[in-house]
Amino acid sequence: MQIIKTIKEMQALSRGFKAKGKTIGFVPTMGALHEGHLSLVRQTKAENDIVVVSIFVNPTQFGPKEDFNKYPRDVEGDLSKLSPIGVDAVFIPGASEIYPNGFSASINIGSIGDILCGASRHGHFNGVATVVAKLFNIVMPDRAYFGQKDFQQTVVIKKLVMELNFDIDVIVCPTVREPDGLAMSSRNSYLNEAERKAAGILYKALKHGEGLILNNVKDASRVKSEIEALIKTEPLAEIEYAEIIDAATLEKIDDIKSIAAISLAVRIGTTRLIDNLVVVLSI
Ligand code: PAJ
Repeated sequence: MQIIKTIKEMQALSRGFKAKGKTIGFVPTMGALHEGHLSLVRQTKAENDIVVVSIFVNPTQFGPKEDFNKYPRDVEGDLSKLSPIGVDAVFIPGASEIYPNGFSASINIGSIGDILCGASRHGHFNGVATVVAKLFNIVMPDRAYFGQKDFQQTVVIKKLVMELNFDIDVIVCPTVREPDGLAMSSRNSYLNEAERKAAGILYKALKHGEGLILNNVKDASRVKSEIEALIKTEPLAEIEYAEIIDAATLEKIDDIKSIAAISLAVRIGTTRLIDNLVVVLSI
């Protein structure tokens, strides 16, 4: 497994793989890797000749009052998890490699970045789109893998790839969960014991909403209010949003038709957690 720290070296390596006709699968991450990340890496390994993983805690996607400084970092641990999977290269650039002095270009993904998580995390999705575009130009993958756990992010990346004509397939992989249903997340490490228990309410609420929809409740506002009521039974939980949305456009819907997504952002203590379920009605 090669550890690559510079853009030049990464581009040269990828160019070499491509010259040999190899397909490159890419998993961008911010490290502190858990089974959710590793499931993406395993799927990438199964579907490509070469697997590249990046580890970069991207400063431009954190707001000034967010957790950039305390975001968990464990590069040694990450490498020991990646190596047995058969990863070919791990790209670990420093901040000044990605954002040298004077750097000022950025991607504006448009209004899709201002709703749901973007309503409270101003500029977050522009930061994500900018760093992912740079990483795509550096790694030059054929396929890039993202988790459904960050549902809005997958829609943003698909839009980026389509509208800026990246010749890359975006592949969305299922959310990996703890036994109680809590979606795995690097931020779960912030939770104390009581908060960790309370965090189970997100999945319970999603499953309750899914149950209503599968039982033919078409009124999105009823599903939303039942979900909110359930989350409010947990004293440590504070709802940022709970929405029933169109899975393609992320717009709020009134009437649930054949497919809808339930999307949540909930604070447990000071930790902000997100999760979602896509519900498909068989006709
Ligand atoms: P990070 O939060 O490290 O996540 C990296 C990838 O792992 C993302 O595609 C995310 O959706 C996926 N992932 C996280 N938890 C998961 C889970 N429980 N199940 C399945 N997949 C999961 O997302 C980012 O980093 C950054 O925004 C990034 C795309 C790297 C840009 O900086």
